[in-house]
Amino acid sequence: MTIRVLSIASEAVPLIKTGGLADVVGALPAAVADHGVAMTTMLPGYPAVMAALGHEKAGRVKHVHAWPSLIGEPARLIAGTIGDHPLLVLDAPGLFGRDGGPYVDGTGRDWADNGLRFAAFARAAADVACGAVPGMTFDLAHAHDWQAALVPAYLRFAPAGDAPPSVITIHNMAFQGHYPAALFPRLGLPDAAWSIHGVEYHGGVGFLKAGLESAWAITTVSPTYAREIRTAEFGMGLEGLIRARAGHVHGIVNGIDSREWNPADDLALASPFTARTLARRAANKTALEAEFDLEPGTGPLFVVISRLTWQKGMDELLHVLDHLVASGARLALLGSGDRALEAGFVAAAGRHPRRIGVRIGYDENLSHRMQGGGDAILVPSRFEPCGLTQLYGLAYGCVPVVARTGGLADTVIDANLAALATGCATGIQFNAVTHNALVEAIDRTGELYRDPRVWQQVQRAGMKSDFSWGRSGKAYADLYASLVEAR
Ligand code: ADP
Ligand code: GLC
Repeated sequence: MTIRVLSIASEAVPLIKTGGLADVVGALPAAVADHGVAMTTMLPGYPAVMAALGHEKAGRVKHVHAWPSLIGEPARLIAGTIGDHPLLVLDAPGLFGRDGGPYVDGTGRDWADNGLRFAAFARAAADVACGAVPGMTFDLAHAHDWQAALVPAYLRFAPAGDAPPSVITIHNMAFQGHYPAALFPRLGLPDAAWSIHGVEYHGGVGFLKAGLESAWAITTVSPTYAREIRTAEFGMGLEGLIRARAGHVHGIVNGIDSREWNPADDLALASPFTARTLARRAANKTALEAEFDLEPGTGPLFVVISRLTWQKGMDELLHVLDHLVASGARLALLGSGDRALEAGFVAAAGRHPRRIGVRIGYDENLSHRMQGGGDAILVPSRFEPCGLTQLYGLAYGCVPVVARTGGLADTVIDANLAALATGCATGIQFNAVTHNALVEAIDRTGELYRDPRVWQQVQRAGMKSDFSWGRSGKAYADLYASLVEAR
């Protein structure tokens, strides 16, 4: 029996991306297809998404449903495809037809009506999951992050009482979607939903909170993060709820999409390579040094590809750059985010010409060249639900140097003596994100790098490790099956 799942999210590769959420939502349909799941993805109709639909062959894009007033806005639903899989797009120009990012305007400020925008999106998705579109039925709804988190609440409080089961995935507990109580009457939920076991959170509407209370099952993107969010340090206020629902919480680690990320046939690379032809990687490093105007050196070339934020430990990284350079290493950084951090990295590059190169911005192709040419990727996150850049690093022989937290702890095997002796080490882990720990990690990387035989062993072990979607695709499919059966 095929299980039909509606996957609801605010981003999906290749149509719209601000972070790892998009990679995962984009990869999920193929990941579960092998395990008897037919997944349809539903996205808001941002200009980029609408434009991509416009490029589809005429006839394949269909207008399948209309809402004269979706929480006050006219909207319609368009069916198309994303890769080889079905896509539904909520075309509501009053809510999503604007320039800027999915969540922020051109100046970086949150859209003032984000609460309404994503409530309408969730309302529409819940209608679709309940069969609003003739000929389109779903056995289960899978909502991602706060933007889709009202879907499980709408399903739970659906008047007919026969809504399909729902799953919510937490990609990042730090973003919860809190809005004033005045939003509640506009949501169209029954009064009963206004309770601490519904959508009410500290006197306002809590989107993620509502989803975590209402979904049949909760998943997050690594086993370690699933444990961490039970604690005050990582639970961001929702740790009590997570503990109360612990029996319904599952940690399923992300995989990577090997069609997008494979060093053997990556068109972004000057010189594609495999674990067996690692020597070919050198040409990519030379090209990367030239691209960042870095002088060649005997120490490792570190790369960073990251949002420049506190979560990612970028403030602490700034403080160890002088040490990094003094140790003989170099750094190429690609990122954007907090203005002060951006300025800090630009200033560091100015202080250390030809040793530190910085690109402020977002550049997918460059990120591939950095993974394919850098020696080591630094990921000093204070918390990391899963993290994808360390997985791309593993696949590309760019040795991950990571903080021991969340998915970073689950996916990298530290090069301690025992792991080195058995040949299973794939990177370097360090404990807390402190100055001393970072200094030590940089020094350990340098030492390891100086022994090419050991370094290549670590690179090859990483490239051969299993970061595919295989096991996790099955874990999601098994979870869906158990919920559909329980219904
Ligand atoms: P998060 O989603 O918290 O930002 P992840 O590691 O899960 O962290 O995913 C980040 C994704 O965004 C990866 O695919 C990474 O390569 C990409 N990325 C981050 N910053 C940039 C950038 N400046 N340019 C290109 N890609 C980036
Ligand atoms: C979030 C997390 C990141 C995770 C990604 C995809 O953005 O910050 O750790 O890899 O979602 O699940």
